[in-house]
Amino acid sequence: MSNLEVLSIAELEAAAMEKMDKMTREYYNSGSDREITLRDNLAAFDRYRLRPRVLKDVSRIDTSTQLWGKKISFPLCIAPAAMAKLAHPSGEVGISRAAANAGVAVGLSSFSTSSMEDVVAQGAGAIDYAIQLYVFQNRKTSEVLVRRAERAGFKAVFLTVDTPYLGRRINEVRNRFKLPPHLQLLNFENPGDVAVYSENETKAHGGDKGKPPAAGAGVDSILPQGNVNDASLNWETDIQWLRSITKLEIWVKGILTAEDTLLAVQHGVDGIIISNHGGRQLDGVTSTLDALPECVAAAAGRIPVHIDGGIRRGTDIFKALALGADCCWVGRIPLWGLAYDGQAGVELALKLLYEEFKLCMSLAGCKSVKEISRDHLIRVKTDGTLARL
Ligand SMILES: Cc1cc2nc3c(=O)[nH]c(=O)nc-3n(C[C@H](O)[C@H](O)[C@H](O)COP(=O)(O)O)c2cc1C
Repeated sequence: MSNLEVLSIAELEAAAMEKMDKMTREYYNSGSDREITLRDNLAAFDRYRLRPRVLKDVSRIDTSTQLWGKKISFPLCIAPAAMAKLAHPSGEVGISRAAANAGVAVGLSSFSTSSMEDVVAQGAGAIDYAIQLYVFQNRKTSEVLVRRAERAGFKAVFLTVDTPYLGRRINEVRNRFKLPPHLQLLNFENPGDVAVYSENETKAHGGDKGKPPAAGAGVDSILPQGNVNDASLNWETDIQWLRSITKLEIWVKGILTAEDTLLAVQHGVDGIIISNHGGRQLDGVTSTLDALPECVAAAAGRIPVHIDGGIRRGTDIFKALALGADCCWVGRIPLWGLAYDGQAGVELALKLLYEEFKLCMSLAGCKSVKEISRDHLIRVKTDGTLARL
């Protein structure tokens, strides 16, 4: 029987809110500082209207596209988000199973509460996985993580570049956000991996040398003093460094400008994700949808351009593709799905988005994703009038 309680992602979000404790709810949902970017990520999609074409024989619609040489069922994958077990005991494993059933790819956070091997085992062969990477001051820790991901069968590294320091998420500080003691960051469970933490980093992770980063770890959450990311990360040396330690594809996550897109192309990265970390890093940066067109123009088809941030509806996926994105990723939605009903909740979320996207394609007159173009959009100006792109 179909679920009549949740018929949209907005309803899923509302239902999930009821299920989470305050600390988890505010950790997942918060943006940084005044949350201007968090709100704008969503609002940007409403600054466009659709220009549908009719009489296009939409009796058969192909929503699929290609990623890493494999077909995905529609251009929507799961962005890396830390600590999914706060939402539900199945955590990242539940998300992975749901993604495998839906035929979409998964990005796994470095700070996953399930081990990367367990996550990949759920969909091995059926879907592809990317490991998200934070580069720590102790490079060896990151190197161990990447090599482990390569052995486990991941396809790509998503190098997150918008976090030389962590953004100020006020609620997390006020709630003294920490990982509950029954959960662990299992991508560091092998003592061999974590033994390489320096004295400082081990302290920042709240653990002893040789033990996994423990509850209260200074990860994707706390104010900069707990930060262990390497703020010296730079274009000149570090893409090359990553290239020297792995054969995996290297994607850069967190680009918002044409200038950085050009640098990504020049430094030979395999793809970019237009992202502002879901409004959790520098507050006041442009929405990702607004940043997309200049990045697409700069990439000029040389590398794939993906986007995340604020995608909540099938029409949002359509609009991002119309502005030139090759694929979209969602961070909070799978967490809400998990909180609502574990793996089944994530499946429900993906089904809603898939059906909305397919309906949007049909009603806009697009039989395949390749047919989605700028001509299908018109921009709402600040005075309310419309402007052709
Ligand atoms: C709770 C939470 C944890 C996140 N953890 C990570 C992370 O560990 N690494 C990372 O690169 N991005 C992380 N992100 C950012 C997501 O990958 C993604 O960029 C963002 O959620 C997209 O915006 P959306 O939530 O509106 O879909 C996190 C986001 C959330 C909401």
